[in-house]
Amino acid sequence: MTARGIEIRKAADSELRDIVSMWKRNIKTANTATDIVTLYRYFKKYFLVATPTDMGNNTGGASSNIIGFVAGAVRNGHGHISGIAVDNECRRNEVGRQLLKAEAANFLADGFDRVTLEVRISNTGAITFYETHGYKRMYTIKGYYADGEDAIVYEVKI
Ligand SMILES: CC(C)(COP(=O)(O)OP(=O)(O)OC[C@H]1O[C@@H](n2cnc3c(N)ncnc32)[C@H](O)[C@@H]1OP(=O)(O)O)[C@@H](O)C(=O)NCCC(=O)NCCS
Repeated sequence: MTARGIEIRKAADSELRDIVSMWKRNIKTANTATDIVTLYRYFKKYFLVATPTDMGNNTGGASSNIIGFVAGAVRNGHGHISGIAVDNECRRNEVGRQLLKAEAANFLADGFDRVTLEVRISNTGAITFYETHGYKRMYTIKGYYADGEDAIVYEVKI
């Protein structure tokens, strides 16, 4: 799959169940489905999905053809990435890049000029991904995650 065949668009309410399932499948998190649904209720306009443009409605029986999502939020007057994931078999095809880019444009259009996020210190793939996209390491939060792992806070000016 090439990046050219991907559409990035706002999530539809009917896709929330699939976003929750993709979130839980791909991100090591203590967030419950209820947490994610609550985030969506507040920050729906910052929930974007990636779908292949060449599949039409033929999803092979699956309930959705979402291959990635980004969940944004507004936190303390700036943009924040609460979650981002791309299905394992679709990774390294610039889907994540397009999701991040579209979310940055979304935040910028609303007057926000910086975006922050937290990432597990062990998530080296995601760390490289964010650094590749200009995110700068700010500081570490000891024991941020429910299982005791530290988080690194990243920020980018947009
Ligand atoms: C992080 C994630 C969203 C990246 O999505 P992706 O679609 O594979 O990313 P892209 O193809 O746009 O990557 C762009 C660039 O980022 C870097 N990158 C992405 N994933 C990487 C990895 N696992 N290891 C090293 N570099 C990586 C590379 O420079 C890549 O360019 P290249 O493929 O030409 O080398 C995806 O790996 C994922 O869903 N991971 C699991 C969920 C997760 O950890 N989310 C973040 C925590 S909330």
